[in-house]
Amino acid sequence: MRRLSLFLLLAAAALTGAAAGGPPATTPIKLSPTFYSQTCPRAERIVAEVVQSKQMQNPTTAAGVLRVFFHDCFVTGCDASVLIAPTHFAKSEKDADINHSLPGDAFDAVVRSKLALELECPGVVSCADILALASGVLVTMTGGPRFPVPLGRKDSLSSSPTAPDIELPHSNFTISRIIELFLAKNFTVQEMVALSGAHTLGFSHCQEFASRIYNYHDKAGKPLPFDPSMNPGYAKGLQDACKDYLKDPTIAAFNDIMTPGKFDNQYYVNLERGLGLLSTDQDLWSDARTKPFVQRYAGNNTVFFEDFAKAMEKLSLFGVKTGADGEIRRRCDAYNSGPTGKADAAEAA
Ligand code: HEM
Repeated sequence: MRRLSLFLLLAAAALTGAAAGGPPATTPIKLSPTFYSQTCPRAERIVAEVVQSKQMQNPTTAAGVLRVFFHDCFVTGCDASVLIAPTHFAKSEKDADINHSLPGDAFDAVVRSKLALELECPGVVSCADILALASGVLVTMTGGPRFPVPLGRKDSLSSSPTAPDIELPHSNFTISRIIELFLAKNFTVQEMVALSGAHTLGFSHCQEFASRIYNYHDKAGKPLPFDPSMNPGYAKGLQDACKDYLKDPTIAAFNDIMTPGKFDNQYYVNLERGLGLLSTDQDLWSDARTKPFVQRYAGNNTVFFEDFAKAMEKLSLFGVKTGADGEIRRRCDAYNSGPTGKADAAEAA
């Protein structure tokens, strides 16, 4: 009898632990590439088919998904918290300024994958895993390296509208601040430089680099036609391309002007020539802490691919939730318990 009541007490403690913000109620499950081999053996294939066809219809998908994945992982871990849609009751990460430019096609790629997976094996594959798998498939599809994607992440029970602007690097940050941000999350300078190679794909809107090409002043306050670390022809081309950006904020430029749709080490080669788009890109070349890595990756695509793959695998494991720390969402943009997540879950319990 005594043993039974002790067991019940322990079971109750385990059940309430997560809702009360305590430690995970169940032993954390280790992530593994074969996590769904029994429960949804075609999961990876299904995600690959959906996102590959989406990428063929809209070639900007790959860059969008990769950025969404970074913005997910760096804010409370890779837990699909970035996918939660705001409602009348609760704001979400999507409301943060830095996330306003995340492209709809990237979210659509995840939604479509989830729909296909729910038809095949309902309630099994998490949205966080879908986003990780989609990123891997699309990096490879655009010419980049293959890297293992361990699976078994749970989806978050919360999504903060303020965390992204605090946790993510902004285009006006100094390299010191960016290094600090990455170190605080246990990523080395080398890993930061390797991950920045993701800017071999996609676009940036003019407002992100306008201060480099219009009304530029050097450190002493002297006005200059543009940031002198820029290749002059490139700077003039961007001045022309962006001239109406205040009227039309959708105007954007390729992050990698030479091979914009191809995942390769051209991004680093560009930096050596003053063809970095964001000041945070170009500064990787001028800062003594990051320059040696830029040189190494510019000179050797294989080394870049190896380091990028390792850093992406590490990023994909950052802050993941397992066991009762999260849930498998039925749809990726909403908590299972209702619009406000945690509070609802606690009430429902
Ligand atoms: C190191 C600090 C970083 C800064 C300051 C930064 C900043 C930015 C900015 C300002 C944009 C343009 C957004 C827009 O105008 O729509 C952008 C785009 C992008 N970023 Fe980063 N980023 C950083 C690191 C990363 C990392 C680590 C990844 C992924 C591993 C990444 C992936 C991307 C991609 C793929 C795009 C293009 C998105 C698209 O075309 O839709 N970035 N980034």
